[in-house]
This record gives sequence, structure tokens and C-alpha cells, in this order.
Amino acid sequence: MRDKAIDILKGNWREGYTIPSKNLYPYQWKWDSGFIAMGLAHFDQKMAEQEVLTLLDAQWKNGFIPHIVFHKESDTYFPGPNFHRSDLHPLANKDYPSTGMTQPPVLGFTLERMHEVAKNKKDSLQFIKDNIDSVYKNHQYFYEHRDPKDEGLVYIYHNWESGTDNSPLWDPIFETIDAPVYNFERRDTSIIDPSERPTKREYDYYLHIIDIAKKHNYSDQKIAESSPFLVQDPLFNSMLIKSNRSLITLYRLLGGNEDKIDQLVRWQAKSMDSFNSKLFDSELGAYIHYDLRNDKPIRMVSSSSFSPLFAGIPNKEQAEVLVKTMMEKFGGEDMYLCASFDPTSDQFNPKKYWRGPVWINLNWMLYHGLLDYGYHELAQRMKSDSIEILQKAGFYEYFDPRKSIYKDGNKGYGGSDFSWSAALFLDLTET
Ligand code: DGY
Repeated sequence: MRDKAIDILKGNWREGYTIPSKNLYPYQWKWDSGFIAMGLAHFDQKMAEQEVLTLLDAQWKNGFIPHIVFHKESDTYFPGPNFHRSDLHPLANKDYPSTGMTQPPVLGFTLERMHEVAKNKKDSLQFIKDNIDSVYKNHQYFYEHRDPKDEGLVYIYHNWESGTDNSPLWDPIFETIDAPVYNFERRDTSIIDPSERPTKREYDYYLHIIDIAKKHNYSDQKIAESSPFLVQDPLFNSMLIKSNRSLITLYRLLGGNEDKIDQLVRWQAKSMDSFNSKLFDSELGAYIHYDLRNDKPIRMVSSSSFSPLFAGIPNKEQAEVLVKTMMEKFGGEDMYLCASFDPTSDQFNPKKYWRGPVWINLNWMLYHGLLDYGYHELAQRMKSDSIEILQKAGFYEYFDPRKSIYKDGNKGYGGSDFSWSAALFLDLTET
């Protein structure tokens, strides 16, 4: 499996970056890139560094890093650069057409993990020294432009920014939006069984939210004032907090940079405080999303609800509550950990993208979180479930959590030879 994983990553390598999957995703995606770089680091330090460098090269002048960098023309993906029009923003990167939205801040903990794995620590430290300030600027962008109420919790303005694209979490928000019916040609559903992908109507909402942001030339301030989708996402904010922590560790390793360390420590304290007072729902026994636009909590449980474990956010009692909820709702013996949405809910769908299937990147985060909190046995199950599912179903994009499904040789869903599944397999098996 290790050889196969390396072959997949080599096969998906383009000049300087890795595509997530040949049949579905022909560009560079931000959070994919971070997970992929950690896998590359296990067999080629230079490739891993190049992956990160290419992404940072596409950073905007205000520190923003886009969710997709459109390196090459491709007619196999919709919506492409001509729909997104990043050039509308005055500070957009002129060399790289991209989207005008972002994805979770993976780069802090990616750099830390790459350094742990690196054989040549001297080169690795030099690489960090040369690039850490760009990642810091990305965090500064989030705290200065994505937190209008100065709470230490940043918002996302599009479901694609969350990474958990079509989770049932967003359904109540879409109900508040009057999106037109668009005329467009989807590419994904001509390649993948439509029952595994978001619906046409969902895509109408996705495009409409982008059109509103475009009308304002992607101005953060205008988006905060008028986007119908404005959410504080525990997964996104956990990854920011985890990455803050990594940046502090790495700056300390480098020496100096006291002003940046102080700033990160201040952001960190504020974020952790608000996170626990605003996003922990003790009745549900889980962290939840908050709908800033409509000023109300989104009281649903998904795999994102447990991601604060990865960032050291819950106290011991809260962690205990999270683990109990995870085991009760997601942890049945007939189920692989960890479904992306509450399996006890009516909206759970084990086949459909982020409405139920298992994703390896979430499992990787939860594995590390459980380990950090001392839940060794459960962490071990998270890891062995991940490896077993990859063994049985192949290096796919996402997986049915029902164990019974695999008796007939069923495969995974979505893209095949999926880069982060391969990359995180390499990382998981080496920890
Ligand atoms: C897609 O095209 O489904 C991607 O996840 C968007 O980021």
C-alpha cells in the first residue's frame, strides 16, 4: 500500500504542485495541498517544500491564500477561472488566476509536521525561515479581515470555504436565500455518479453566493455586510488555532520574532476563549457552527464538531463529553469512524459527499486530537479504521461508513487515486 500511495502522489504531481485527483480536480486546492505536502515529506522533502512554495506563490498582497489556484486551462472542471474572476479584487495575485474564496488554514501545522518528518533538518529549518512569515500574514489576514465583531473567531462566507461542501449544516442557510436557477454544465456529474455529489439546486446557491461577492469585487468588508452566508465554523477555526500553535512553536525554534510570537499568543487566547463560550453546546455534547448572518447557532453534530480536539481547545471534561457523543452517535460496531455527519440524523446519507461518508483528512485530525487527550484506544481505532477502509475500498476520495457495504468488494466514492488519502495514509502509518 505504501508503494501504491507513493505512485498515486507521483502520478498526480504536476510541475510544482499536486492535483487532488485526475478525473475530478485538475488544479491546486489549498487544504489538499497542505495534507498532500505532509505525505510527500515522507519520501521527498523537496517535493513537499515545492508544493507549499507553489501555493504561497499564489498568495495575494493582503495575505489571502485562495482555495483553488488555476494553474492551467482545463475544460474538465466547473466553475473555472472565468466564473470566479479573482482579478476583480484589487490585491489579487496577478500571476495566478484563482477563486476569490479560501479554505481552512492548514499551512502552520503542515510546516510543523514537515519539519518533524524531514531527514535534512538544516534544509528544513531554512525552508521554514524563508516562508513562515507568509503563513503568519495569512493568519493576520484572517484576524484582521474575517472577524468583524472582534471575537477571535473568523467567518467563512461560502460553504466551499469550509471544505465540508454540501454538509446538511448549510441546508437551513440555503433556505433563507433566494437563488436564481442557473444554466450551466456541471462536469463532476458526468464523471461521477450524481448520487455521490451535490445536487443541481445546491450548485445554484453556491454560484449565487459567489456572484454576490463578485458584485462587491470580493471586498471582505462588503461581504461581511451583505453575504447571505456568513458562518463561524469550528473546523475552520480549529485548524487556524492549531496552526497558530504551530507557528508559535516554529518561531521559537527559529529564535527572535518576539513581536510575532506575542501577537500569535494574543490571538490564540482570545480565539480559545470565544470558541469555548460560543461554540460549545453542552446539551448536544458537541461543538457547533454559528450562523453569523442570521445570528443563531446551527445545532447539528458532524465530524467537524470533534475537530477542536485536534487544536487542544476543550478542557478535560469537555473532551470527555465529545468522546461520549462520538461513541454514541458515530461509533457503532457496524460503522467505520468517523462519518462526516450524525448517523442518527434523518439527513445522514452514507454515500453523498459531506452528508455522511468518512473522509481521511478528518480522521487524521481526530486521530491526533484523541491521542493528545490521552484516548489511546479510541485513537488507535480511528487509525486502524482509516487504514482498513483504504485497504478494502482503495485510495478513493470518501467512503461509506457502513462496514456491511464492503462485503461485495465495493469501492470508495468520488475521485479515485485521491492524493490526500494516499498522503495521509503515509503519514498515519509512520506515527
Ligand atoms: C468541488 O468542486 O467539489 C470542490 O470540493 C470545491 O472546492
